[in-house]
Amino acid sequence: MPVTKVLVTTPRGVVGRHVAEALRDRSDVRFLVRSAASAAALEGAVRGEVLRGDATNAEDVRRAVEGVDRLFLAHPFAADQIDAETTLGVAAVEAGVRRIVKLGARRFDGGLVPDAVTGNHDLVTDRLRDAGVEELTVLQPDRFLQNFLPAAPAIAQGTLADPAGPGARGYVDVRDIAEVAVAELLADRPMGGEIEISGPAALTLTELAASFGAVLDTPVRHVDVPLDDAWRTGMAERGVSPQIIDGLHDLYANYRREGVAGLGDGVRCVLGRPPRSVDDFAGEVLRPAVLAAD
Ligand SMILES: NC(=O)c1ccc[n+]([C@@H]2O[C@H](COP(=O)([O-])OP(=O)(O)OC[C@H]3O[C@@H](n4cnc5c(N)ncnc54)[C@H](OP(=O)(O)O)[C@@H]3O)[C@@H](O)[C@H]2O)c1
Repeated sequence: MPVTKVLVTTPRGVVGRHVAEALRDRSDVRFLVRSAASAAALEGAVRGEVLRGDATNAEDVRRAVEGVDRLFLAHPFAADQIDAETTLGVAAVEAGVRRIVKLGARRFDGGLVPDAVTGNHDLVTDRLRDAGVEELTVLQPDRFLQNFLPAAPAIAQGTLADPAGPGARGYVDVRDIAEVAVAELLADRPMGGEIEISGPAALTLTELAASFGAVLDTPVRHVDVPLDDAWRTGMAERGVSPQIIDGLHDLYANYRREGVAGLGDGVRCVLGRPPRSVDDFAGEVLRPAVLAAD
């Protein structure tokens, strides 16, 4: 069945910008942006329609989902995440969207504490199923390598500061997540269901720092950041709300408790190739960010 129209949310987001890039030459795609800056960045850069609106606003959402057949649904971990994803997702199903590819997150192995990040995804996923969506893919990626880009200057100075603890996990390049998302959106027969997505190897933060250092040609070491009052104060000073700080605290506490995480094989299953390596990320994405920050 031909794709009539694809709606892409967060097309300027960390993952969504790569989804938008992959779909830039298609005329049958609508990109939902909230800010004027994101609209300006996309207009002229994509063939499809750029629509301004807020995912929590029922009227904006009604315009966004009109005529749409497939939806890439993503949202930041924020106070309005459940509202935004359920408002948009349920309206989309009611308007006739058959397929939703939702950006979620990997769950933790073992009986760890409930955390709001994975909890939000489970709740939204349940509501999409209850709404009766025909085809649902929930992408469940591991931690993004791109999380470290804002710290590029500190990494170049030799320090990778992070609170996720000593365990090893399959840090993933978001370009792979976006490629899986686009494949699931456009396939005649998507894989569907929950797709766990990791990088090719489970690495500790110490190993990750060493890999960054080898590519940047400078020693980089991991420095643990305890989840203490100083961490909370630092987050609050950066404008993060108490509710989100609590959620991130529980998420990082689970990372610290989980130890070594298993690897998801979503990239190989959907794309038929291995995931990008940390060296690929460090050479192609981190190094340019370091040079740009100089
Ligand atoms: N970071 C990780 O390691 C990790 C790992 C696994 C899963 N995840 C999951 O990934 C998701 C976040 O993805 P991401 O990092 O790609 O997102 P992101 O970059 O934080 O998304 C930012 C975009 O969201 C848009 N936005 C925010 N509020 C909006 C609203 N009310 N209406 C319309 N647009 C709105 C903004 O649009 P404007 O620019 O127009 O304002 C902005 O461009 C989360 O659900 C998280 O749980 C993250």
